[in-house]
Amino acid sequence: MTNTTSLGAIQQAAEYIRSKGAEAPEIGLILGSGLGILADLIQDGISIPYQDIPHFPVSTVEGHEGELLIGTIEGRKVVMMKGRFHMYEGYGPETTAFPVRVMKELGVTSLLVTNAAGGVNTDFSAGDLMLLTDHLNLTGRNPLMGPNDPALGVRFPDMSEPYSRRLIAAARETAKAQNFTFKEGVYAGLLGPCYETPAEIVMLRRLGADAVGMSTVSETIVARHAGIEVLGISCITNMAAGILDQPLSHNEVMETAERVRERFLSLVLALIPKM
Ligand code: 6GU
Repeated sequence: MTNTTSLGAIQQAAEYIRSKGAEAPEIGLILGSGLGILADLIQDGISIPYQDIPHFPVSTVEGHEGELLIGTIEGRKVVMMKGRFHMYEGYGPETTAFPVRVMKELGVTSLLVTNAAGGVNTDFSAGDLMLLTDHLNLTGRNPLMGPNDPALGVRFPDMSEPYSRRLIAAARETAKAQNFTFKEGVYAGLLGPCYETPAEIVMLRRLGADAVGMSTVSETIVARHAGIEVLGISCITNMAAGILDQPLSHNEVMETAERVRERFLSLVLALIPKM
């Protein structure tokens, strides 16, 4: 068994976090590009650099900060990852999802995962927000590979409800109250780091994908293994390759995430009490 997936490593990380005075969080937040400012809204929060937490991975991407924040948002105890890990950085899926296991150990029962994604469904436009109804794990890897410790979950976990129907319904209600409508669909999670070719996007659409990105699936798999309810939301930052006659750029991804940020933030804030 690798070091980072052993129960002992998870417990050591959680014990260190508790020793910093963190109260037990109930909700985990892993927020993609653009939503980092939610960190500023955490009350009475404590911040712990990833590099101080035993066994925690440390991010390699510039501009992706690495700290765990624990505190209160809208009256609920949350633990938020400021900066997340991607498989394209070279981490295995069990490493990108290690923080989810630590969250479970701290007491988390529901997890919000957001990401930036390319639109595969041609009815979508840049700036849309999509509730994940399901995903396609096309990373070629699985975070649960290897010996299974029954203390962490079952060997063959059910994945028939990867994203919680209860939380999807709560998200729809929240949006309605804000005169907003989410798009809904299937997220295809790929390894990256290059964006897809036009032929790959045609393939993904035929496979049933509505959006495509480079994160989230390993976190969701580990969360479901641990019995954590998951809500996933994609910010469609751009249309995927071959749909519009223009190249894709990380700048466009960041610009759209920035443009949608306020709306996304107000939805997430209203959703947290319902999680
Ligand atoms: Cl088009 N593809 C992938 N894999 N990730 C993305 C994206 C596209 N747009 C934003 N993130």
